[in-house]
Amino acid sequence: MIRKFFSSTSDIPESAAVPRHIAIIMDGNGRWAKKRLMPRVAGHVQGVERVRDTVQACIERGVEYLTLFAFSSENWRRPQEEVSKLMELFILALEREVEKLNRNGIRLKIVGDLERFDSRLRQLIRDGEARTADKDRLTLTIAANYGGRWDILNAVNTWLAENPGSARMDEAAMNAHLALPFAPEPDLFIRTGGEQRISNFLLWQLAYTELYFTDTLWPDFSAGELDRAITWYQQRERRFGRTSEQVRQH
Ligand code: IPE
Ligand code: IPE
Ligand code: MG
Repeated sequence: MIRKFFSSTSDIPESAAVPRHIAIIMDGNGRWAKKRLMPRVAGHVQGVERVRDTVQACIERGVEYLTLFAFSSENWRRPQEEVSKLMELFILALEREVEKLNRNGIRLKIVGDLERFDSRLRQLIRDGEARTADKDRLTLTIAANYGGRWDILNAVNTWLAENPGSARMDEAAMNAHLALPFAPEPDLFIRTGGEQRISNFLLWQLAYTELYFTDTLWPDFSAGELDRAITWYQQRERRFGRTSEQVRQH
């Protein structure tokens, strides 16, 4: 059963002081390593450490959903060696961390086009999700071989297959078929590494998300940095199309 969430375009969602859902593009691993004359993969290894810290920090702050962009549908364009290293790290992280996630009440979700991954990785993903499925302290979603355009096309095609004929797709049907039907739309988006772009992350879901960009490279991202982003978020007025006066009367 899919829980019904407010959609920022069909309804006006409540904005809590602490963002319920944070989505992060973890960028800058390669540059972090290069600055230290280390191979790019050393930056990815440090990056995994920051994932661990950020999950913990989100739990402590009462964030309910954390979605992390780990590998984009365009990252296959990287040198074969780097892609293989990233896959190895992903496998290692799943093997080592799932039990800890389970103990800490964290539900793990992996979203993206998983068919391109090898069978061992796909099995680890299935096991990790199954073992943590009943946890509800934090939902940690890892976007892997994910692309926003893939997500939208996949939703439309899945829906079309279920609804042959002349039915028209509406927002509720779209939301239910996208990769994150279990989560509300992100309240806060963070991109580290200095670039101010979306890079094909959650194109549909970011419609009314507050966008925060920091020059900090992902391997240097800390709980203090997370707090700065949350403080910035708390100063935004989320109008969802209304006037400022309307928001204050509400
Ligand atoms: C983000 O860091 C990690 C992935 C895309 C997998 P990068 O590897 O993109 O680091 P930079 O942008 O080259 O510094
Ligand atoms: C976005 O970072 C994808 C991830 C962090 C997984 P990239 O480093 O791939 O983005 P671009 O290529 O600079 O836009
Ligand atoms: Mg990058």
